[in-house]
Amino acid sequence: MLTSSKWLILIGITAVQITVSESQQNDQPNGEKPKSVRQLFNTTSCIPPPYRCPHPKMQFYLYTRSTQAKGELLNTLDNDSLTASRFNRNHPTKIVVHGFGGGRNLSPSTDMRNAYFTKGNYNIIIVDYGSLVKEPCLGQIEWAPRFAGLCIAQLVEYLQNHPTKSVQPEQIHTIGYSVGAHILGLVANYLKVGKLGRITGLDPTILFYMGNNRSRDLDHTDALFVDVLHTGAGILGQWGPNGHADFYVNGGSSQPGCAHDTIFQTLSCDHTKVTPYFIESINSREGFWAGPCSSLFSYLIGWCEPQDTDYVLMGEYVDRNARGVYYVTTNAKPPYARGFPGRSRRLRSITPYS
Ligand SMILES: *[C@@H]1O[C@H](CO)[C@@H](O)[C@H](O)[C@H]1NC(C)=O
Ligand SMILES: *[C@@H]1O[C@H](CO)[C@@H](O)[C@H](O)[C@H]1NC(C)=O
Ligand SMILES: *[C@@H]1O[C@H](CO)[C@@H](O)[C@H](O)[C@H]1NC(C)=O
Repeated sequence: MLTSSKWLILIGITAVQITVSESQQNDQPNGEKPKSVRQLFNTTSCIPPPYRCPHPKMQFYLYTRSTQAKGELLNTLDNDSLTASRFNRNHPTKIVVHGFGGGRNLSPSTDMRNAYFTKGNYNIIIVDYGSLVKEPCLGQIEWAPRFAGLCIAQLVEYLQNHPTKSVQPEQIHTIGYSVGAHILGLVANYLKVGKLGRITGLDPTILFYMGNNRSRDLDHTDALFVDVLHTGAGILGQWGPNGHADFYVNGGSSQPGCAHDTIFQTLSCDHTKVTPYFIESINSREGFWAGPCSSLFSYLIGWCEPQDTDYVLMGEYVDRNARGVYYVTTNAKPPYARGFPGRSRRLRSITPYS
């Protein structure tokens, strides 16, 4: 059951969304957005029974450099499906889990794939909840992430046990944004043998798990290396650090350019900004160099002067030895990365958006 505090938060945010929807009615004549709290409990995002993995609403699409335009649907009940696909076990494998508000043909899934294929050869498997999924299904919030975690664990085991193209969980890098980050944390609970190599959590939300049960959270026990990028509001203090290395971008709580397009983005707001940062890190020449600081306050007032050697890269090429909390300041517009702060330059948030 949801606790009463969660209810208040969910309903409070729902009310915001309803206001937004109504004010946008003229711009959105198709009227697909839920208009009432009741509808949010029964949207197209709700997982239809039977609750078995693999589930038709949770599909795995493989993308490779030669199949960038059209993903190949993997059937975890059939080894031939991977055999016949372009999956190449000599290339790095990424599993990408978006929140309940995305799809494989939507940004940021598409942008992330473009970035990786610009860089090189990868097997990128997108966990897709179907193109209809636009809003979270409130009635299933409590258990839907666990169910998704179970089905993704089945995918990981499918790759692990494949007769000719097997890849061990330790070799897999998984990337989850918003609730997808939590779903990846749950995968660990279902893997029978081995551990995921890396989980990158892109702004795990406070919405779904208010932190009263750590076993439901993403934490450092869930993979050999867990790195987390924080950009959403209300995180510090109450939320995180979650991983081996936690990166707070521009202080971690407020980013320029928040959109209020769907309830999911309204819930997330600053939170959606995290993916462009991560995607840019894949091909960035400058790099998002982040430094340690004793507290957010010290960072904000510019009191932190890390040694040059204390800086680590945030994002795709993070140093796996990084441990603890790091802060990084970005530009307001792409390219976001500011490069290495340089000797004797303070790590500070001053004019971060100029
Ligand atoms: C949910 O929505 C579907 C389709 O709109 C409808 O058939 C079904 O009866 C609804 N279920 C509940 C519990 O309201
Ligand atoms: C795939 O092959 C492996 C090894 O032969 C076997 O253990 C596994 O059950 C097969 N999986 C499926 C889905 O047929
Ligand atoms: C935390 O969640 C897990 C998984 O849902 C459950 O098995 C466990 O009993 C919960 N622990 C507490 C203290 O509620």
